[in-house]
Amino acid sequence: MSLLQIEDLTVVYEPRGAQPTTAVDRVSLSLEQGEFVGLVGESGSGKSTLGFAITRLAKAPARIASGRIVFDGTDIAGMGAEELRAQRRGGFAMVLQSGMNALNPVRSVGHHFADVFAAHGHVPAPRRRARAVELLDKVQLPATVLDRYPGELSGGMRQRVSIALALSLEPRLMVFDEPTTALDVLVQ
Ligand SMILES: Nc1ncnc2c1ncn2[C@@H]1O[C@H](COP(=O)(O)OP(=O)(O)OP(=O)(O)O)[C@@H](O)[C@H]1O
Ligand SMILES: [Mg+2]
Repeated sequence: MSLLQIEDLTVVYEPRGAQPTTAVDRVSLSLEQGEFVGLVGESGSGKSTLGFAITRLAKAPARIASGRIVFDGTDIAGMGAEELRAQRRGGFAMVLQSGMNALNPVRSVGHHFADVFAAHGHVPAPRRRARAVELLDKVQLPATVLDRYPGELSGGMRQRVSIALALSLEPRLMVFDEPTTALDVLVQ
């Protein structure tokens, strides 16, 4: 069984009082555990929309109009918020295009990790700081970054913090949307 099986997925944007756009049109693909798949296409072809749909982060006016998203044997296309939260830990995570701008400017990096650990409860409180330092190390950032605010970091550093936060959920599937755009070639 594939880790992820997408069948005939169609995602439509339906803005109020405007024409609907079919951004993802009957896409099917499957992904095995440990496999990497790259998606290439021109600007506006629906790559980000597909990523948001797969991880169920798509918000109105986006709507999954049809199709199935079977993750690890379960169709998540129609799942509610609580069920989805359970799927995210050890399940799937997404690193956003310009994820570096998704950090909260008034919370330190350490706070961001604390929020994720608290929301998912998978790292015991006494282990949290050490775990955050380990994750930062994976993206080549020093422990001192924990006490910094997003605005005090470079774009590339913020992007790496976003990646470390996504890794903190130990997902089996990660969707990266242009995650290295803000990084220099060595860090890429
Ligand atoms: N919030 C939105 N409301 C309405 N239409 C949208 C919205 N977001 C995206 N679209 C439309 O959906 C289509 C796909 O956009 P998407 O962002 O998925 O493309 P992309 O392949 O990721 O492009 P890029 O390479 O520029 O990041 C485009 O036609 C875009 O105009
Ligand atoms: Mg995009």
